[in-house]
Formats: sequence, C-alpha cells, structure tokens
Amino acid sequence: MNFSKQEIINILKDDSQNDWLFELADKVRRENVGDEVHLRGLIEFSNICKCMCKYCGLRSPNKNIDRYRIEPDDVISCAEKAVELGYKTIVLQSGEDEFYSRDVMCKIIKGIKEFDCALTLSIGERSFEDYKAFKDCGADRYLIRIETTDRELYKKMHPNMDFDNRVRCLKDLKTLGYEVGTGCLVGLPEQTIESLADDILFFKEIGADMIGIGPFIAHPETPLKDCENGNFTLALKVMALTRVLLKNVNIPATTAMETLNPNGRIIALQSGANVVMPNVTTEKFSSKYEIYPDKSSLSDRDEAERIIKSIGRTISKGYGFRSNS
Ligand code: 5AD
Repeated sequence: MNFSKQEIINILKDDSQNDWLFELADKVRRENVGDEVHLRGLIEFSNICKCMCKYCGLRSPNKNIDRYRIEPDDVISCAEKAVELGYKTIVLQSGEDEFYSRDVMCKIIKGIKEFDCALTLSIGERSFEDYKAFKDCGADRYLIRIETTDRELYKKMHPNMDFDNRVRCLKDLKTLGYEVGTGCLVGLPEQTIESLADDILFFKEIGADMIGIGPFIAHPETPLKDCENGNFTLALKVMALTRVLLKNVNIPATTAMETLNPNGRIIALQSGANVVMPNVTTEKFSSKYEIYPDKSSLSDRDEAERIIKSIGRTISKGYGFRSNS
C-alpha cells in the first residue's frame, strides 16, 4: 500500500475512514514486525537545555522549573539496574546540556555498553565529529525529531535554530550507520494537514528506522500556554499512516498519546505502534522532566508487561533493531 500526498491529505481530513485506517495499520504492523513489543528503558538524565523551543517546558527561559543533571557514574548505574531488570535497550535522553561534552558522553556510552544492551541517544543537535565519537564508543541508535517539516512553522517554533541543520544531523547519523529515529508533533498552532502529510513523506524519504509521533500538549510555562492541545485522534492517524507507508519501522506508543487519552498507549499499540518506553530514571528525578504538564510516566516494567499481554501481544527478548534482531 502506497499513498500519494493527496491521498494522505484526504485520509487525514476525513474522519469517516478512521476505523479502516487503524485496522489497516494494525494489520501492516502484524505482517511486518509481528506481535512482539520492544521495551526501551528511558533515562532522562538532564533537564537543562540551551534551546528555546516554544512548546517545550524544558526551554531555557523557563525559570519555574527545578533543574537537575545526573552525574555520569549515576547514569551508568541507572542503566545497569535497567539491564538487570531485563531491558535490552537503554535510551538516554536529555535537554541540550553542554555539561555532557563529547568526552563525558563517550565515558557514559562506554560504561553502558559494558552491559548486554543496545544503546539509543536522544540529546539533540551535535557535530558530525561528536556523532562519530559516540558511534565509535558503541552507541547504536539516535533519536532526533524533525518536529515539523513546515519551514516557516519550524522557524516560529524554534528561535535560534535552523531547519537545515536538523536535517544535516539526521543525514550525518544515517551516514555514520546509526539506526535513526525522527518524528513530529501533531497540533502545533498554525500547523496544516498538508504539512503533516509532508512530515510522513519526509520520514520515508530520510530513511528513518524509528518514528515517534505525539500530540502537542500546551505547557503553562511556555509562550504557547494558551494554545489548544493537539488532537489525539489526528496524532493517531499520522502514526497509523506512517506505519502503513513505512511498514517495518519501529514506532513507539508515545507518552504524549497516553497523557491526552487514559487509554492512549493501548490504542496506539493497536493502531500501528510496536514499542513502549517505560521510564527508568532514578525516582528522585523522574517527575522533573516536564516537557509538558501531567506527563504520564510508565515506570513499572511489570505494569508494562501486563498491559502488553492484556491485548494479546508479547514482550520481545531481542535488542529491537529494525531488522528484528
Ligand atoms: N507537547 C508534546 N510533545 C512535546 N515535546 C516537547 N514539548 C512537547 C509538548 N509541549 C516533544 C518533542 C521532543 C520530544 C522529546 O518531546 O517532539 O522531540
């Protein structure tokens, strides 16, 4: 199944076809990546960020936030505990925090790669040389959402940032042999359906291996505090279409989906998603990574297993690469 841009737009605009779309995405998911769900242990190791993204609670001008930074050795021991619990992938995520220089990150990566796990980084825009050093130390995957492919909107949402540099990052990561994850926000102010169709086509064009999609949620300490939240169903449709078009990629049931809909994680898993990312950050810090308000945090592996088994799916025992190894 392959849709043109116009067909994608029509599907996104027409809610009478939603059930058909979600069932199709579930079928494409089953045929291409099976019934296994990959669990990724997420460590949010610093909420300090130099960026000013208009939607994000971690943006540097936000003074009303308790900032923290986890010491490199503690990040490593947090990962060790997660691997002991059975996680086969660790995801290290943070704001763009310069404390974690190339050398500091390399130390953390080497430490974690002593354990039996795959390692994903999600620490923002860096130079080709940084990305190369991280890869040489053993990092396997990298997440960096494009957020929106609408250049005008991108500029409005990301002061002091450059769309072309973000694309450069994705291309460098691909060149270096990472499995690359990207994705977008759904429901940003002034975002059009046409640009969401472009986002989906962009994921395909760039050769993304993982795609995270979630609704925009207004954060009270940001310039977008009075904007309406994104629409859960529209975000789900973008995700489902991404599954249908990209087939065997890994797609998480994102936390933002769960935050907007109490059943969001299960609904996402039944509409194309095949990955869940429980939070394994040390408890002391786990509530402080407030990208958006009321962020739902699944931190209990047993709870994740229960949810997944309740819908007839199984937990993968593999590392969860795209190639299914
Ligand atoms: N609502 C939803 N998602 C958000 N993100 C950041 N701020 C928000 C928000 N207010 C997402 C971005 C980023 C990811 C880590 O979190 O897409 O890439």
